[in-house]
Amino acid sequence: MTGPIAILGGGQLGRMLGLAGAPLGQSFRFLDENQGAPASMVGEMIVAPYDDQDALARLCDGAQVCTYEFENVPADTAAFIAERIPVYPPPKALEVAQDRLLERRLFADLGIPAPDFCTIDSVEELRAAFADDDSPRLLKARRLGYDGKGQFLLSGAKEAERALDAIGHVPAILDGFVEFEREVSILAVRGRVGSDEERTAFYPLTHNIHRGGILRVSRAPDPDVTPDVEALAQDYARRILDALDYVGVLAVEFFWVRGPDGSAQLLANEIAPRVHNSGHWTIEGAETSQFENHLRAVGGLPLGPTHAVGASAMVNIIGDLPRTEAVLAVPGAHLHLYGKEPRPLRKIGHVTLRADSAVEVERLLERFTRIIG
Ligand SMILES: Nc1ncnc2c1ncn2[C@@H]1O[C@H](COP(=O)(O)OP(=O)(O)O)[C@@H](O)[C@H]1O
Ligand SMILES: [Mg+2]
Repeated sequence: MTGPIAILGGGQLGRMLGLAGAPLGQSFRFLDENQGAPASMVGEMIVAPYDDQDALARLCDGAQVCTYEFENVPADTAAFIAERIPVYPPPKALEVAQDRLLERRLFADLGIPAPDFCTIDSVEELRAAFADDDSPRLLKARRLGYDGKGQFLLSGAKEAERALDAIGHVPAILDGFVEFEREVSILAVRGRVGSDEERTAFYPLTHNIHRGGILRVSRAPDPDVTPDVEALAQDYARRILDALDYVGVLAVEFFWVRGPDGSAQLLANEIAPRVHNSGHWTIEGAETSQFENHLRAVGGLPLGPTHAVGASAMVNIIGDLPRTEAVLAVPGAHLHLYGKEPRPLRKIGHVTLRADSAVEVERLLERFTRIIG
C-alpha cells in the first residue's frame, strides 16, 4: 500500500508511531488541535479542530488508512473518515473506550470481572449509594478522564456535593475502592492478515505503579506473574478483540486481587484502543515495539514477535525535565523526550532502563532514582 498513514492526534504517542514507522518506509499525516504538537517532527501536521470537515478531508486525501493516538476523537469524526478510508481500530472501539459505562457493560457482556460499580447522575443517587455501606468509593466521570483527572475519592455520603462539584456534575460511575495487590496491564495486538493465531499477539503482562492517578513506573516482564495469570489476561483481552472486531494495539488495565480462596483474580478497569503508556518499555524491551506492531497491524502487514528482550523498567518524566547528561550516565537508560513544555503533572518524556535480568533492572532503577530523584 502507498500513501501516508493518517493519524488523529499528534501527541507523544503519534511521535513514537512516526519514529517506529519511518524504517518501514511509512509516512505520516497527523491532525491535532494544537500548533507544535509532539508529532510535528515526524510527519505532516494539520492543525485544526477534530470536527473541521475540510481538514478531515485533507487528512484522508491519498492516505491508505487512518488510525488514532488520542481516544477522545468525536465519534462523528471517525464516522466521517470511515466513509473515505479504512479506520483502525474500528470506530466502535473508540465509542466504547470513551465512556466508562459502555466499557464496563462490555466487560459484563463478555464475562470479564470488573470492580463493583453503579452509575451516578445526581447528588441524590450519590448519597443513596452510601446508604447501607459507608466504605470509600471512587467517583469517575464517564467521559474525558485521563491520568486520574475527573475522579474523586469519597469517604462517605457527606462528601457527595463536593465530589460532584469536583468532576463538574457530569454523568459518572461510582467504583468500589479496590484494595488491589498490584495493577497490571496487557497489550494485545491484532493484525489484518493470516489466521486468528497468526494475527493475534500479546506482550508479557506489565506491572504498573500509579501515584495520584498518574502512571509513574512500569516493569516488564513482571517476575511475579504466573502462567495462569498471564493466560487469564490473554483470555480476557482476546474476548475484547473478538467482540470489537479489533485491528491494532489494545491495552487492558487490570487490578490484580486475591479471591476469598487466595487465588489470583483480575478485575478489568479500563481499555485503551491505542498504543499505551504502559507499553513504552517495548521500544527497547521487546523484540518488536507496540508502536511498530500497531503500524504493522493497521497497515495490513505481518506482526512482529512480542517477547521481551531481557527485563525493563519504564519511568515517566512528569513535570520537570531531568538533565540529559545525568539520565544517560545510567547504563541501560534510554531517554525519550516528547518536545513538550514542562508543566506540573504533565508527562513530558520517559526513560526505559533495560538489562538482562529483573534483578539487574532493579539495581539500575535504584541508581536512576538516586541520581534523578
Ligand atoms: N476502583 C478503583 N479502586 C482503586 N483504585 C482505583 C480504582 N479506579 C482507579 N483507581 C486508581 O486510579 C488510577 C487511574 O484510574 P483509571 O480508571 O485507570 O483512569 P484514567 O487512567 O483514565 O485516569 C488507576 O490506575 C488506579 O491506580
Ligand atoms: Mg487508567
